[in-house]
Amino acid sequence: MAVHSLIPFILFLLAISPSSASNSSSAAIGINYGQVADNLPSPEAVIRLLRPLGVGRVKLYDTDPRVLRAFADTGVEFVVGLPDRLVPKVRDPATALAWVKANLYPHLPRTRIAAVTVGNEVLSGNDSALTQSLLPAMQSVHSALATLGLDRQVAVTTAHSLAVLSTSFPPSAGAFRRDLLPYVTPLLSFLSKTGSPFLINAYPYFAYKADPKRVTLDYVLFQPNQGVVDPGSGLRYDNMLHAQVDAVRAAIAAAGGGKGVDVRVSETGWPSAGDEDEVGATAENARRYNGNLMRMVAEGKGTPMAPGAPLHVYVFALFNENLKPGPASERHYGLFKPDGSPAYHLGVAEAPAGNSTAPTASSGGAGPHSPGASSTGYYSTISSATKMVGSERVSVVVLASMLGLVLRFA
Ligand SMILES: *[C@@H]1O[C@H](CO)[C@@H](O)[C@H](O)[C@H]1NC(C)=O
Ligand SMILES: *[C@@H]1O[C@H](CO)[C@@H](O)[C@H](O)[C@H]1NC(C)=O
Ligand SMILES: *[C@@H]1O[C@H](CO)[C@@H](O)[C@H](O)[C@H]1NC(C)=O
Repeated sequence: MAVHSLIPFILFLLAISPSSASNSSSAAIGINYGQVADNLPSPEAVIRLLRPLGVGRVKLYDTDPRVLRAFADTGVEFVVGLPDRLVPKVRDPATALAWVKANLYPHLPRTRIAAVTVGNEVLSGNDSALTQSLLPAMQSVHSALATLGLDRQVAVTTAHSLAVLSTSFPPSAGAFRRDLLPYVTPLLSFLSKTGSPFLINAYPYFAYKADPKRVTLDYVLFQPNQGVVDPGSGLRYDNMLHAQVDAVRAAIAAAGGGKGVDVRVSETGWPSAGDEDEVGATAENARRYNGNLMRMVAEGKGTPMAPGAPLHVYVFALFNENLKPGPASERHYGLFKPDGSPAYHLGVAEAPAGNSTAPTASSGGAGPHSPGASSTGYYSTISSATKMVGSERVSVVVLASMLGLVLRFA
């Protein structure tokens, strides 16, 4: 594509950016700030890294006070996590109140905390004690927030693995595991009553890795392809992530209780490297997946079942995390290496993370659990186009717009 043919597109992006900036609930890319590593830069350095990208939403797996303090007055919106091991404890309302007072209250309102996830992928973990504690714990945390007058500011939810579904294809046949329904249905009622979203961690990568002969790469990487028609709904799907999200929507409708509950993607991503037997874990595929994903989110695209509702997505993850157990891919989901350099060339503005690489104690953290535009040139073409325009500032604006991001720092 000729460079100048991109100029109208750039202007289009410039034109749409103010609307995303003024609406905090509109689509914007978020990022998972996992810290299962001993070599990550300081939170202050992370702010400098995220600033040129304009990332407006960050998800943490805990309530790391160093991070929450550092992001005060940045406007960045946080989802924070209450770790699994505390879930049974915060069933007790007094313990929940103490937790909220100690971990959230001191940071509000200077750090924006929009939601707490109570546990991560609890239901698919098959720990029955934990499963039984989940909703009572969420209720106690919600009551604690209400006691402090914070329940309208801070939503209470939990993140699920796609393994909570027994059927995910075709999307219209999406259904929760029958054994989980006694937990899922009341949980959905809670989310509906409190106006909180249903969060799903969805990794088309796992489907591809498990069956690379039948799952087509273009379909999982948001590349142009024929797509597949859902015989139940007649809707055409041209990427797997949308199909997975709509399977969750169908499952919620079938379970009942989830009236008006928004479905959001709390994790998705693609590893840039893996073990020899991990088909598809390459920098090229990661670049396509994450690049196309970010563009789709920036465009405010919804899924076929809900085309008018921009899909909220948190990319997994900010950094490659060196202490994650499991296959090599687990340590290669980052957009960035710990030194702040890009894990692969996304073509976006690359700011050094700075030099304060104080080691971070490993804390919290989850990530992928296997349940199951001609993009290569896309960013590089855009960046050469902006070079032609000749102003670094313009390129930052363009990139921020592309990522659907809020220019809070410019
Ligand atoms: C913000 O965006 C959401 C979702 O697109 C929409 O429902 C809402 O009306 C918007 N609010 C404003 C103030 O524009
Ligand atoms: C939990 O149980 C389901 C259904 O029996 C099974 O498919 C799944 O692999 C189990 N998950 C874990 C993490 O053990
Ligand atoms: C970081 O600090 C070290 C030691 O002070 C210095 O040698 C190096 O050049 C610095 N790197 C950057 C990117 O500033």
